Amino acid sequence: MTTVSVGNGSASGELAGKDGAEGSAPGSGLAVQAVSLAVDLPSKEGKRSVLRDVTFSVEPGEFVGIVGPSGSGKTTLLRALGGLVRPSAGKVVIGGLEVSAPPDGTGIVFQNYSSVLLPWRTVGRNVSLGLEGKLPRPEIAAVVDEVLTMVGLLDYKDEYPWRLSGGMQQRVQIARALSLKPQLLLMDEPFGSLDAMTREELQDSLQTIYSNLGSTIIFVTHDIDEVVYLCDRVLVLDGTPASVADMIPVPLPRPRDQIYTKADATYQDVRRAVRVAIHSGPARTGG
Ligand SMILES: Nc1ncnc2c1ncn2[C@@H]1O[C@H](COP(=O)(O)OP(=O)(O)OP(=O)(O)O)[C@@H](O)[C@H]1O
Ligand SMILES: [Mg+2]
Repeated sequence: MTTVSVGNGSASGELAGKDGAEGSAPGSGLAVQAVSLAVDLPSKEGKRSVLRDVTFSVEPGEFVGIVGPSGSGKTTLLRALGGLVRPSAGKVVIGGLEVSAPPDGTGIVFQNYSSVLLPWRTVGRNVSLGLEGKLPRPEIAAVVDEVLTMVGLLDYKDEYPWRLSGGMQQRVQIARALSLKPQLLLMDEPFGSLDAMTREELQDSLQTIYSNLGSTIIFVTHDIDEVVYLCDRVLVLDGTPASVADMIPVPLPRPRDQIYTKADATYQDVRRAVRVAIHSGPARTGG
């Protein structure tokens, strides 16, 4: 199993790994744990304490959202889970193994799609980037077709990314992350810069992908509606340094529907609970 990072300037992706992480059945999602996690980052004053005593667990195959005020540390937490930031205390455990580098079987999708697709490669050849040299060509072609079908872009395989809309480019990035069949998908505001209609379309594509893939998803967003619509639980991050203010379950059946789910009284209740938690600060309960 391999790791691919998509976005954040990492156009070629980061590939590493070996097969068979412990703590998860083949083809299923990876379990994720943060245990008393603390992260300090450099600042003008020396160092800034960004995360403190962050503790939570995500079950294999669960879809967990992370929300919190701007600058609270959501991206830092996601990067720590993805092995891209070293904890100053505590640990991250993924699939039973303590994380010290990007974990096997993990795909990361960052927000900035415009800087990560290679303009001289077609959509298909952007998606195949992480597979080249690792699989025989016919297998790569089959995976590219499969993941482009999943994101609804098979007809654009031979097109160049700069001829696509922002939403379509974001789909290409997601297809690239999916091409490595991740058991854990870490997504940092992947739909943040898209218009409302495209965003809803991609939310529904992601729901379908999630139900087909069975992977664990951890999804950072600013959008309360988005997090309640998509997730099984919502982790609210708050405080300076940030810790877990709340972990709120979303007891809504799947598949979810943009009109009917959002009209559901439970949806409205959960939405209210998330909103209240964001505004009431950290209770330091863990999760
Ligand atoms: N590479 C870095 N070096 C030093 N400090 C950083 C770095 N990245 C982020 N920070 C600081 O860490 C804190 C948390 O930033 P982070 O990007 O994790 O917040 P966020 O919740 O993702 O914000 P947003 O909602 O705006 O994306 C901020 O105070 C930020 O200034
Ligand atoms: Mg962020």
